[in-house]
Amino acid sequence: MNYDELFPTIVSHAKEYGFIFPSSEVYENGLQAVYDYGQLGVELKRNIKTAWWKAMVQMHENIVGLDAAILMHPTVWKASGHVDAFNDPMIDNKDSKKRYRADNLIEEHIDKLLAKSRKDTAKRAKKEGWEEGSEEYNGFLHKNRNAVKAQEVQEQLATALSNDDLEGLRNIIIEQKIVCPVSGSKEWSEVRQFNLMFKTQLGATADSAMDLYLRPETAQGIFVNFLNVQKTSRMKLPFGIAQIGKAFRNEIVARQFIFRMREFEQMEMQFFIKPGTQEEWFNYWKEYRIKWHQALGIQDDRLTFHEHEKLAHYADAAEDIQFHFPMGIKELEGIHSRTDFDLKQHMEFSGKKMQYFDPEDQTSYVPYVIETSVGLDRTFLAHLCNAYEEEEVPSAKGTMEVRKVLKLHPVLAPYKVAVFPLVRKDGLPEIAREIISDLKIEHNVMYDEKDAVGRRYRRHDAIGTPFCVTVDYETKDDQCVTIRERDTMKQERIPISEVSNYVREKLSWKNILA
Ligand code: GAP
Repeated sequence: MNYDELFPTIVSHAKEYGFIFPSSEVYENGLQAVYDYGQLGVELKRNIKTAWWKAMVQMHENIVGLDAAILMHPTVWKASGHVDAFNDPMIDNKDSKKRYRADNLIEEHIDKLLAKSRKDTAKRAKKEGWEEGSEEYNGFLHKNRNAVKAQEVQEQLATALSNDDLEGLRNIIIEQKIVCPVSGSKEWSEVRQFNLMFKTQLGATADSAMDLYLRPETAQGIFVNFLNVQKTSRMKLPFGIAQIGKAFRNEIVARQFIFRMREFEQMEMQFFIKPGTQEEWFNYWKEYRIKWHQALGIQDDRLTFHEHEKLAHYADAAEDIQFHFPMGIKELEGIHSRTDFDLKQHMEFSGKKMQYFDPEDQTSYVPYVIETSVGLDRTFLAHLCNAYEEEEVPSAKGTMEVRKVLKLHPVLAPYKVAVFPLVRKDGLPEIAREIISDLKIEHNVMYDEKDAVGRRYRRHDAIGTPFCVTVDYETKDDQCVTIRERDTMKQERIPISEVSNYVREKLSWKNILA
């Protein structure tokens, strides 16, 4: 299957096997852009969180964790700039009454032009006999009509966004004849700014109620706790505070599954440093973070850095780590050099000092901050897309069949081992259960006795279980089992007493973290 057409398959695979369900689906198709993680989804999500926490906190003596509350004093969001400037440009289609982000509509149009450009290039390459990646191939890929148009629209979009030019955004939509994906109509409203924060209220009576916001990022919980953590942990600069938690944004979305959600999770780390050292630390974290994605098995050629065209007013550098999703190359993580903006803002709005006393220089100053901010759900989606493959393999009947396989890194797989008795009798289930009892102390494992062994393999390939262990009649005599590896489908016979060590070695965090 062509990777660029994989998206609908990923969405249905995630539902069919219990990774992700649309939220409250029983009520009129549920709630748009909100999702529930099913029995396999929670495991994969938990394993990604563990991988991040180990790499960020466990591997750095100078990084500690935090779990700040979702509800915060409303002035936090005034100080951070979110009340005044956390907006998206939105546009309504007059016929379908659907609302879209104007910049997303244009980005989707650019993605379509680029997809056409790739298709045209493949066609031409076939006709001319060009090798993929050759000079002729790349020349045509970048200079054909659709590629040039995509580049032009990209530049217009960047200019309109950096000038906050709402009319300019609308003009691009009109000029490019972009239609509403639901009604197919070109009847568009003006473009307006729309604040993304969800409001709620604290307090029981209308008189005493206080307007609050659901946090749109976890970072501010770290900034307001900067001195609490620094003093109680007795950390010296440079040091970091890491946090994993929910964030909420009233996103205007169009069929993007868990890529853009209204309730999602972030894994953020703020690294507090001496002013003047920000370039060095920005480069350190850029390299460290891309290596983390690679170490977990994301293909190198699907990851790229992207420098922000327009820097936020508080940043002196910002780059995204982008992932090539089937629906386009998109942001996975942001690395931001945020200067001393946030701490200074909180100092000003709270009237409390947020300075650090440097024992070496005997001076006090407000630290600068490098932030690494990655979406947990987006990382989850990247792994599903990266790992999903359909392969033609011989079936038990001797014909060919398609095996769907999730080639997830073993440390991320929801189940590490599935143990099968060949048949449901003659003492084989009891032996399988004993192996399970031993393995489950260390790993998430599954006992599976339903259907023929071949079908059980397919089921576990589809959910990414890296090892399947089969107990057969010979096991009773030789105390050995067959262990089958998911990606190569190779089978090996090993003593039951070695199963635990075999699996432990393959699941070691050492390779990833070293
Ligand atoms: N504290 C900085 C910050 O929040 P951001 O670029 O707005 O920066 C960081 O968000 C990351 O959070 C993104 O790179 C993305 O992975 C994830 N993210 C942001 N909005 C999201 C949404 N609506 N749904 C899922 N993930 C989202």
